[in-house]
Amino acid sequence: VLGPTILAIESSCDDTSAAVIRHGKVVANIVATQEVHKQYGGVVPELASRAHQQNIIPVVSQALLTAKITKSDLDAVAFTRGPGLLGALLVGCSFAKSFALGLNLPLIEVNHMQAHILAHFIDDPKPSFPFLCLTVSGGHTQIVLVKDYLDMQVLGQTTDDAVGEAFDKSAKLLGLPYPGGPLLDRTAATGNPDRFTFPIVNMPDYDFSFSGIKTSILYFLRENTTQYPDFIAENLADICASIQKALIQTLLLKLKQAAKDTGIREIAIAGGVSANSGLRKAMIESAARYKWNVYIPAFEYCTDNAAMIAITAHYKYLQGDFTTQYASPEPRLKL
Ligand code: KG4
Ligand code: ZN
Repeated sequence: VLGPTILAIESSCDDTSAAVIRHGKVVANIVATQEVHKQYGGVVPELASRAHQQNIIPVVSQALLTAKITKSDLDAVAFTRGPGLLGALLVGCSFAKSFALGLNLPLIEVNHMQAHILAHFIDDPKPSFPFLCLTVSGGHTQIVLVKDYLDMQVLGQTTDDAVGEAFDKSAKLLGLPYPGGPLLDRTAATGNPDRFTFPIVNMPDYDFSFSGIKTSILYFLRENTTQYPDFIAENLADICASIQKALIQTLLLKLKQAAKDTGIREIAIAGGVSANSGLRKAMIESAARYKWNVYIPAFEYCTDNAAMIAITAHYKYLQGDFTTQYASPEPRLKL
């Protein structure tokens, strides 16, 4: 089956990425991760915008080169409209609009959260509809009922912090450098998850809350370090493993409930936190226990990337869903 050749741009947070999809296959996916934020312990929006501006042309050139195509081979240009940081989104959006205008190409706008989910259609195995997706990132925590490629319904979501934020903030409290999530994961690998107990918050319906866990970790550390100043250093792996366990169990509690209530056994995870080894393991165990077919993205498609924007744009192109030169970023775009 032949399909369009599309250049896709992702610039919603601190990764500048460009990808090319050709006939439904991702043939290039270039990601420039911004290192500038490390020294500040978090993403600085203004610096992110500036780095996107520096990176965007080299990243796009590299994507076209890797895909072994030229601009004249393109059928459309796609970009992330939101959600994300306004200044960061503006760079990708403005670039895509100028590029499309210059080459007289149609323009496609993509929802970043929809794209995280559709990353499952880049490679095999692909989930079949309807499926449930637990989307877990630095900005979102959602359980989504996916009825079709472009037909999704949020069943529940966080009422405060995202789970990725809970990972990052916990890591920060432990003195781990930014971005803390992956480091907490790695440290947890050698720890005992049953050593300490942190609360598993049970919200109504399919909603989540992670601000309470963060506060309880703060008090737990404060209490123990006043008694033993070396408490964190001496117990770091066990603390990390115990925090990770509580966060994952909080996620699993609602996912299991949603699977039970809907009767759906096609279950996917998506977003940055789906790179977490504890969550991946818990999903594989749940697959055996509850007879789920579980879909876990390849590492390169968990965290932000333009390949997922490209696959979403591919389906939008096939539906004739284009936008115009009036398109503008929407930092709070809903699914
Ligand atoms: O999807 P993503 O790249 O960006 C957003 O759209 O937010 O997700 C980034 C989030 C960060 O909070 C990061 O710490 C978290 O994903 N993350 C992890 C791991 N890898 C990335 N959290 C826990 N364990 C990991 N291995
Ligand atoms: Zn993301």
